[in-house]
Amino acid sequence: MGACKLVRFLSIVVMFSIQPHPAAFGSRKLTSDDAAVVMNPPPLGICASAVTKYGYKCHEIDVTTEDGYILSVQRIPEGRGGGGGGRNKQPVLLQHGVLVDGMTWLLNSPDQSLALILADHGYDVWIANTRGTSFSRRHVSLNPDMPEFWNWTWDEIAARDLPAVIAYIFQQTNQKIHYVGHSLGTLIALASFSERKQIDKVRSAALLSPVAYLSHMTTPLGVVAAKAFVGELTIVFGLAEFYPKGKEVSRFLKGLCADPKVDCYDLMTAITGKNCCLNASTVDAFLRNEPQSTSTKNMVHLAQTVRDGVLMKYDYGTRGFNVEHYGVPRPPIYNISNIPNDFPLFLSYGGQDALSDPKDVATLLDDLKLHDEGKLSVQYIKDFAHADFIMGVTAKDVIYDKVISFFKRNQ
Ligand SMILES: *[C@@H]1O[C@H](CO)[C@@H](O)[C@H](O)[C@H]1NC(C)=O
Ligand SMILES: *[C@@H]1O[C@H](CO)[C@@H](O)[C@H](O)[C@H]1NC(C)=O
Ligand SMILES: *[C@@H]1O[C@H](CO)[C@@H](O)[C@H](O)[C@H]1NC(C)=O
Repeated sequence: MGACKLVRFLSIVVMFSIQPHPAAFGSRKLTSDDAAVVMNPPPLGICASAVTKYGYKCHEIDVTTEDGYILSVQRIPEGRGGGGGGRNKQPVLLQHGVLVDGMTWLLNSPDQSLALILADHGYDVWIANTRGTSFSRRHVSLNPDMPEFWNWTWDEIAARDLPAVIAYIFQQTNQKIHYVGHSLGTLIALASFSERKQIDKVRSAALLSPVAYLSHMTTPLGVVAAKAFVGELTIVFGLAEFYPKGKEVSRFLKGLCADPKVDCYDLMTAITGKNCCLNASTVDAFLRNEPQSTSTKNMVHLAQTVRDGVLMKYDYGTRGFNVEHYGVPRPPIYNISNIPNDFPLFLSYGGQDALSDPKDVATLLDDLKLHDEGKLSVQYIKDFAHADFIMGVTAKDVIYDKVISFFKRNQ
């Protein structure tokens, strides 16, 4: 079995966990003080800390999932000064990736951040925050100190979080939704759509740095992480919450960095790829806010996705347990080819992306080869890596303008 693949997976673990340049990495170690910061989320919500200060309206909303998680959602109903779009604004939902939250859409200046650009173009913008992230650590009966709170993977993000948020928006606006996902935010959409769920309420979907297959992730960390193995995730960390800034995970990262073959002075590059266009102060803002918690079970599920090269539900590890959960010995697959051929899709991927590797995107595109020609737009950006898609200073010109034309073609 691919020890190598496994290890590549472990790189996801450290993604976003390390400072991008030597000075910062040297001067600001991950400490348990960081834990305190995130365990008590900033007193201001996302609206107050990143949206209203620029003159936009913004509403904080709670949406409860069928399994009791209370998710924080932000709504930016219009552009600055109410501008753009007329009365019948179409809703757009922005869905972030793993180990981050909705704040990632709001770190650059208003003219460079997708959420605010969309608002200024007349869209009614909604930002999701998945279970476990700073503002979505709530549940009707559980709390984050209980292991049961962390008993889920991206299966549940696709099957519970996404439908709850989409149903809420649909009910409030009475309109079909345009969707934008980044990274894991693309995986959960593809998984849902492949089961023909949500598509009746979604108008179109723009998938940035699409992740469905993870077999070809590249990263210099691979060699060293080969010494690790997937079981270690559960054994070493043992906890149900996967908290990247916590002591256990930090110790693990420091262990990897002690190896001379791993260049921890530029791990952002080693992990996400050679981002062409990040603003250093945006990266600092990013690292103040992220990485955020997810469940250990979710990390294990992602490891399975890397290992198996197939998109399947969480594997309980034995035939018996799988039968118990799914009625069959192997977890059911998500068949991307089942996405209706006339469903409007826009995919944008980067040549330098170490997580959403072009080879894996090619596999995804092969699954979509029967898609109606006019309904699938694909953009390849040679210089972009994983983080450029959400934080790149040139992303507006290179991608977001294209996303907006795509939405306009699919009004
Ligand atoms: C976790 O969830 C599964 C169903 O997905 C359930 O069978 C199991 O009992 C749960 N475990 C805990 C500790 O809550
Ligand atoms: C980088 O961010 C800083 C602080 O927000 C801003 O003043 C500067 O103009 C940005 N640089 C670019 C190239 O966008
Ligand atoms: C996936 O779906 C396509 C189209 O519906 C079908 O032709 C194919 O056999 C399916 N693949 C698997 C592995 O079930």
